[in-house]
Amino acid sequence: MHHFDYKNGEYHCEDIPLSRIAEKVGTPFYCYSHATLKHHFEVFDKAFESVPHLICFAVKANSNIAILRLFGKLGGGADIVSGGELHRALIAGIPPEKIVYAGVGKTRDEIRQALKAGVLMFNVESTQELLTIDAVAAELGVKARVALRINPDVDPKTHPYISTGLKQNKFGISWAAAMEEYRQAKGLANIEITGIHKHIGSQITQITPFADALDRTLALVRQLKDEGIDIRHVDIGGGLGITYKDEAPPHPRELAEKIAPMLKETGCKIIFEPGRVLVGNAGALVTRVLYTKVNEGKNFFVVDAGMNDLARPSLYGSFHGILPLSAEANERKKVSADVVGPICESGDFLAKDRVLPLLRQGDMMAVMSAGAYGFSMSSNYNSRRRVAEVLVNGSRFDVIRDRESIDDLIRGEHVPDYLD
Ligand code: LLP
Repeated sequence: MHHFDYKNGEYHCEDIPLSRIAEKVGTPFYCYSHATLKHHFEVFDKAFESVPHLICFAVKANSNIAILRLFGKLGGGADIVSGGELHRALIAGIPPEKIVYAGVGKTRDEIRQALKAGVLMFNVESTQELLTIDAVAAELGVKARVALRINPDVDPKTHPYISTGLKQNKFGISWAAAMEEYRQAKGLANIEITGIHKHIGSQITQITPFADALDRTLALVRQLKDEGIDIRHVDIGGGLGITYKDEAPPHPRELAEKIAPMLKETGCKIIFEPGRVLVGNAGALVTRVLYTKVNEGKNFFVVDAGMNDLARPSLYGSFHGILPLSAEANERKKVSADVVGPICESGDFLAKDRVLPLLRQGDMMAVMSAGAYGFSMSSNYNSRRRVAEVLVNGSRFDVIRDRESIDDLIRGEHVPDYLD
């Protein structure tokens, strides 16, 4: 469910025609719907109301501090994977005791920063990391709260690049080694074991992989309790998929029906790390047709957004719906076309062989379902300025990130004097 639709001949986000925002901020820009973000958070929260829980939004999905603030105000925390994300979460006002820190490559500096901030727990991904956290905590004279991230070796049945819980993936500690690792952690002076963590992948559209991974994780929790290792937090990660085209992922309520009874049994506080399901369909990338051309009978719509702005189609072959901002344009006869960006690579496309209305120079369109891993994965490739981000709330809109300036592009670059 989202708040993007045609009204009075124009595609709107909530009560604002996207073309009006384009007049003000130019194109391309990312546009997010406040009502949709809030609704998604509340639906997820309500689905799991029968278990004590904390929703730690996966900051990597959309890192804008206004979005983080919004989820924070709704009671959410943050799932972070870097010192940069920690900084964003804190600036956005997320309390440190609601922040969980995952990632296979935390540096000593980042660990220090997180310990000083007092994050809820580190989701530890290797023995060496565990020893490093222990050592840094000793230097600071504190105890580090940790969960071990267990790799349950369950197939999430998703794109291989975003599958993380198989034994051939780089993530977590293998299920077989988990008990031994916990015993080691228990013996470390500056480590306090508080939880267990798993995350098996992203854009998961079935319930079974979640239930299977949870089964394995909870078996470990029982074993740990038997050994006197007290687990207070069970962090089940994120990964719930969304509809981009015709996928039919479970509603959070359906997922909860299956797994909430299992979670309740643990007597633990459950941590969720949803990313995509909260923000994906709450955002669109608005772009304008610069040129149209036909090469050897093939239609190309060249638009002003490229793979640097939205990498998902190039990187994963992902489908994003495309809708013209004017209803009139949407009614035109349909053709098959590639929607391509200005970047000098053939991999620079937003859609391939897509049946679309015959668009004309100057037409604008919304690239849908772009709220997750859209702006947050964007880059300056081809020295393109990263685009503006806008948040719509009813009939008002606010620029929540300025389009980068030309000076932003070269900030921090220096020419050695021998090149004078
Ligand atoms: N927790 C951990 C430890 C994660 O690694 C991730 C995502 C999440 C939570 C959130 O997962 P979600 O609920 O959003 O599925 N760039 C890719 C997605 C990469 C996901 C990485 N990890 C894409 O555009 O599809």
